[in-house]
Amino acid sequence: MTEARKILVTSALPYANGSIHLGHMLEYIQTDMWVRFQKLRGHQCIYVCADDAHGSAIMLRAEKEGITPEQLIDNVKAEHSSDFADFLVDFDNFHSTHSDENRELASLIYTRLRDAGHIATRSVTQYFDPDKGMFLADRFIKGTCPKCAAEDQYGDNCEKCGATYEPTELKNPKSAISGATPVLRDSKHFFFKLPDFEAMLKGWTRSGALQDAVANKIAEWLDGGLQEWDISRDAPYFGFEIPDEPGKYFYVWLDAPIGYMASFKNLCARREDLSFDAFWGKDSTAELYHFIGKDIVNFHTLFWPAMLEGSGFRKPTAVNVHGYLTVNGQKMSKSRGTFIKARTYLDHLNPEYLRYYYASKLGRGVDDLDLNLEDFVQKVNSDLVGKVVNIASRCAGFIHKGNAGVLVAANPEPELWEAFQAAAPSIAEAYEARDFSRAMREIMALADRANAWIADKAPWALNKVEGKQDEVQAICALGVNLFRQLVIMLKPVLPKLAEAAEAFLNVPALTWSDLATPLANHPLNAFTPLMTRIEPAKIDAMTEASKEDLAAQSTDAATPAAPAGNGELTKEPLAAEINFDAFAAVDLRIALIEKAEFVEGADKLLRLTLDIGDAKRNVFSGIKSAYPDPSKLEGRLTLYVANLAPRKMKFGLSEGMVLAAGPGGEEIFLLSPDAGAKPGQRVH
Ligand code: 2FM
Ligand code: ZN
Repeated sequence: MTEARKILVTSALPYANGSIHLGHMLEYIQTDMWVRFQKLRGHQCIYVCADDAHGSAIMLRAEKEGITPEQLIDNVKAEHSSDFADFLVDFDNFHSTHSDENRELASLIYTRLRDAGHIATRSVTQYFDPDKGMFLADRFIKGTCPKCAAEDQYGDNCEKCGATYEPTELKNPKSAISGATPVLRDSKHFFFKLPDFEAMLKGWTRSGALQDAVANKIAEWLDGGLQEWDISRDAPYFGFEIPDEPGKYFYVWLDAPIGYMASFKNLCARREDLSFDAFWGKDSTAELYHFIGKDIVNFHTLFWPAMLEGSGFRKPTAVNVHGYLTVNGQKMSKSRGTFIKARTYLDHLNPEYLRYYYASKLGRGVDDLDLNLEDFVQKVNSDLVGKVVNIASRCAGFIHKGNAGVLVAANPEPELWEAFQAAAPSIAEAYEARDFSRAMREIMALADRANAWIADKAPWALNKVEGKQDEVQAICALGVNLFRQLVIMLKPVLPKLAEAAEAFLNVPALTWSDLATPLANHPLNAFTPLMTRIEPAKIDAMTEASKEDLAAQSTDAATPAAPAGNGELTKEPLAAEINFDAFAAVDLRIALIEKAEFVEGADKLLRLTLDIGDAKRNVFSGIKSAYPDPSKLEGRLTLYVANLAPRKMKFGLSEGMVLAAGPGGEEIFLLSPDAGAKPGQRVH
C-alpha cells in the first residue's frame, strides 16, 4: 500500500430550519461511502459537517414558533444528527455555523480580506418593511409581474412568464412577512471584491479541481465578468455581526462554508492527532474535498476559493458536484407521497437498501439520479439478498454441520479466487473516482460468478454422496471466503451488513488489505440472516406516511415547509393577498364531530366523522398529537372546508379538511364557532 494520505471531506451544510429528506441523503450517503472507502484503505480521512444555522428564514421561523433562534437550531441539530446516524452517515464531527469557532474564523477571514483591500462598501437602496422594521430580501416581496401582470409573484422573477426583474419594478409590492407596503430605503452594504481573483479563478477552475461540465459552466460565468458580492445584511438578522460595524451582519452564505473549517477546528480541540494548520494552512499537503449539489456551485467554485486565497488559506483540492434526486422519474412530490423525509424512510425500511441503490446508480457526473421505487425493490432483493447474502447462507450450514463450524484451508478453484484478486484494483479505482455504479456492477459480476460456481458444484447434492464430505468442506470454505471478499468490497456502502458478517466470520473489523489473504482453519460463528428482502407493502406504507406528513402539516398552521435553494423562505409566513372571489370560492361550513377515532397504522391521523347538516363526511386530520383521547372531540362543533378535492389515502378517502391553528405537536387548536351555530351553516 502507498503512504497514508491526509484527506478532509465535507458535505454541504444543511439548513437548520427543515427536515432532512431523501434528496439530501443522496449527498450525505455518497460522501459517507467515499470517506468509508478511504478509511478502509488505511488513509487518514476526516469527514466534517455542520448545520447551516443563520439567516432570516431561521430568525422568522423561530419567531413564529415563539422560541429563540438558538432553541430552534438546537432542536433541529438533534433531529438532523439522529437522521444522519440512523442512515449510517458517520461524520467525524457535526457542528453548527452558530459556534464560537465559526465566529472567530469568519471574523478572521473578513478582517484579512478587508485589510488586504478586498472589501468595498457602498449604499444600496432596497425595500424595507415599515411594520416589521426590516429590509426585505427579494423572496419576501410579492406583487404583480411588470411584464405579464400575473399576481402574487416574487420580487425577483415571475413564475408565470419567467421574466426576471428588480423588486422595484414589481407592481403593487407587498411584504410577504407583514403584508405592509414596503418603502425604499438606503443602507450601507459590504461587498467582497470577487473580480480581484479573476486570474486565480480562471486557473484554479481549470486545474482539475472540477468535473468538466462544471468547469465549462464556470468558464461561461468567468467570461461574462465577475461581480462584487454583497456579503452584509442589516439588523435584525440571525448571524454574526461584522467586526467594527455595529448593526451589520454577515450574509448567511459568507459564514456557511467557513463552517467547514469551524467544524474541523472544533474536532481538532479533542483530537490530538489533528492539526488545523496541517489541513487549512497555505502550504497544506492534505487533500480537501467538498461534495455539493449543482445548485450551489457558484458559492463553492468562485466565492469560496477566492475567500480562501484572499485570507491566506489553502484552496480545495476538488469540488465534487452531483445532480438532483427524482423519484419515479419526477420531482419529489408531497401529494404523490414521494417527498420522503429521512425519518419516514427509516420508520419503514433499512437504510442500507437505499445506500446500495444510490451506489448502484451514482456515477461521477452531475446527472440527476432517479429513485424508481419498483426498480429499488427489485435491485436490492436481487443483488443484496439474492446474490451476496445467499452465498454465505448456502455454505454456512454445511461448515457448521459437517466440520463443527471450522472453515478448512482449501482453494478448490484457484482461478475463481484469482479473478476476485484481479478485480479488486479496478473496483478500488472506481470508488476512488466516485464511480460507485461501476464499482457495484463489478462487485455484482463477481457475486454472479461465485453463485454460478457454487450452483455448479452443488454441495447440497455432494453432501449426500459418501466420501465427498471433504470436497463439500472445501467448496464451502471457498464460498465463505468469496463472500468475505464481497463484504470487504461492499463495506463502504453496507457498513452494518459488514459488521454482522464480521460477527459471523468471527474476525475483527475488515479492511481492504484483508482481501489479499483468505481465512483458513478458522472457526466461524453461527450464521444469522444478514439481510431480508424488501416487502413492496413497506414502500406503499412509506409513501402513504409521506402523504400523512403532508396532511399533518396542513393543520400545522405555523410551520412553513422546508425552504429550498438560497435559504430564504420559499413559503412566506403570511399568504399573499387574495381577492374576494378567491375567498368566496372556499366553501367553509360548520361541522359537528360525531365520531373521532384512531386510525390503525397511522401515527399522526385521527378519523373524524362529520355531520355537515345534510350529509356525513369522513375526514382524516393530522391532529392526533394534540388529542390523545379523541372521544373528547365528539359532540364538538368545528369549521370545515367542504369543497376541498377529496384525497385518496391508504386508510380511505379524506373528504375535505377541518381547521386548526398552532405550531404542531401538542399545540394544535381546533377552531370552534360560538354556541348556537348549527352543522351545515356556511361561514361568511
Ligand atoms: O444550500 C444549502 O442547503 C446550504 N445550506 C448549503 C451550505 S453549504 C456550505 F457552504 F456551507
Ligand atoms: Zn410574468
